[in-house]
Amino acid sequence: MSNLWYVSFLEVGLIVFLSVMGVYALFSLIAIISFAPYVHSGKKKILTMLDIANLAAGDRILDLGSGNGDLCILAAQRGTRSLGLEINPLLVLWSRLKAKRRKVTGKASFVQADIWHYQFPNETSVVFVYGMPEKMDPLWKKMRTELRPGTVVVSHAFRFPQVTPEKEEGNVRLYRL
Ligand SMILES: C[S@@+](CC[C@H](N)C(=O)[O-])C[C@H]1O[C@@H](n2cnc3c(N)ncnc32)[C@H](O)[C@@H]1O
Repeated sequence: MSNLWYVSFLEVGLIVFLSVMGVYALFSLIAIISFAPYVHSGKKKILTMLDIANLAAGDRILDLGSGNGDLCILAAQRGTRSLGLEINPLLVLWSRLKAKRRKVTGKASFVQADIWHYQFPNETSVVFVYGMPEKMDPLWKKMRTELRPGTVVVSHAFRFPQVTPEKEEGNVRLYRL
């Protein structure tokens, strides 16, 4: 009898594990097609992105594809309010837990959303982006429609075609809408 309990405990564990892996794999695939796969910028690069933006307390940050939440959390620790949009619900969950652990729950929030179907908040003052090159032009057009002129946009790795950056530091570039 006790052996049977042990076997079903293992089965339940395996089903939960495979379900979580399945959800992760499914959303990773959607992310690749939609905007970009999950690739962490790395702490050093995130600090460069935050520095180049010259953040001020009170800035409203929008991170498009917020991954594991590091950028939003570090921005919140500099006195801003940050919002991360992320398509993968497991990364959103992870980001929220991390924000709680770092005691910035009220300042860094994460929403499970598709950036192409989410109205960007008009009060945003700085946007951070790390997306695939072919998505940069449509993203620029969406930001120009929904955000205020003068909003700062910081991109890691890829350029917005036909837009001249105001500042560059390695492959981190600052633009203004
Ligand atoms: C290159 S990673 C960048 C992660 C993080 N911003 C960083 O710099 O470390 C791109 C992120 O965008 C997310 N993503 C892809 N398509 C998306 C979409 N349509 N809407 C929201 N997030 C998306 C991916 O899941 C991934 O976490």
